Amino acid sequence: VGRWASLRNGEARKVLWAGCAGRRRTMRSSARASVRPRAGAVCASASFASILFAPSFALDCAAAAFARRELCAPRGIPQASPPPVHEDVETILFTEAQIGAGIDRVAREVTAAYRGTGFTVVSVLKGSCVFASDLIRRIPIPLELAFVSASSYGSGVESGTLEVNFFPAESEIRGRDLLLVDDILDTGRTLARLVDEMKRRGARSVRTCVFLDKPARRATSFVADYRVFEVEDLFVVGYGLDFAGHYRNLPYVGALKRECYERPRSPAGR
Ligand code: XMP
Repeated sequence: VGRWASLRNGEARKVLWAGCAGRRRTMRSSARASVRPRAGAVCASASFASILFAPSFALDCAAAAFARRELCAPRGIPQASPPPVHEDVETILFTEAQIGAGIDRVAREVTAAYRGTGFTVVSVLKGSCVFASDLIRRIPIPLELAFVSASSYGSGVESGTLEVNFFPAESEIRGRDLLLVDDILDTGRTLARLVDEMKRRGARSVRTCVFLDKPARRATSFVADYRVFEVEDLFVVGYGLDFAGHYRNLPYVGALKRECYERPRSPAGR
């Protein structure tokens, strides 16, 4: 702005026109974008242009209109379309947008509960890493992050023996308020065991937050303090949840087709 303001009217117009021409060439060659103005965008770019040009000189209407056209976002950029449904997914249960809104809600609850106290989010690997990373970025108060790794499923869909592969360091647990974050609360065995273990290792308090809650399969009396969605008794994948190590990267949550977990081998090549 300082550089523009120091130019006189005629010089500024020359620089403006040169900039516009270069910009239009770039837009044409790279994005093939149209430069036709949109009403809303013109308003926004008009205020930017007025800050840029008003104090020291007045551009004539034609040059200013051209400036606005060039400063506005080009038309014709497609909106993000929903991702194609994976061929192994029977149906989408929660879309990206629904997931975002659900996490917003739970993040507000967690923020209200821990405001004024430091706490540690303990993400249960691997399944909750996607959820935990989205959740913590919506919690605007100080927190620390730690990980615990537990596996209970192997490559099947039935609950197997629970193995805890590693815990956070003792200094991350002792005397701390912990929020254990998991992808899904199913039988409840994993979280019940982890809560007991964290308390045994000296945590001051332990609460739990799950992305999905599947009460139909509960084998314990475990109740999560926070949960984003309840799901029916389907094997679900996506958004961190896997089957035989696959599908974690789907941006939505879907029910896996029965034939995928009933066939002898795990899904090939995905
Ligand atoms: P429990 O039965 O201990 O299970 O509450 C918790 C762990 O089991 C896994 N799990 C699933 N993973 N789709 C998945 O991808 C499911 O429907 C499902 N149900 C349970 C998950 O790792 C969770 O942490």
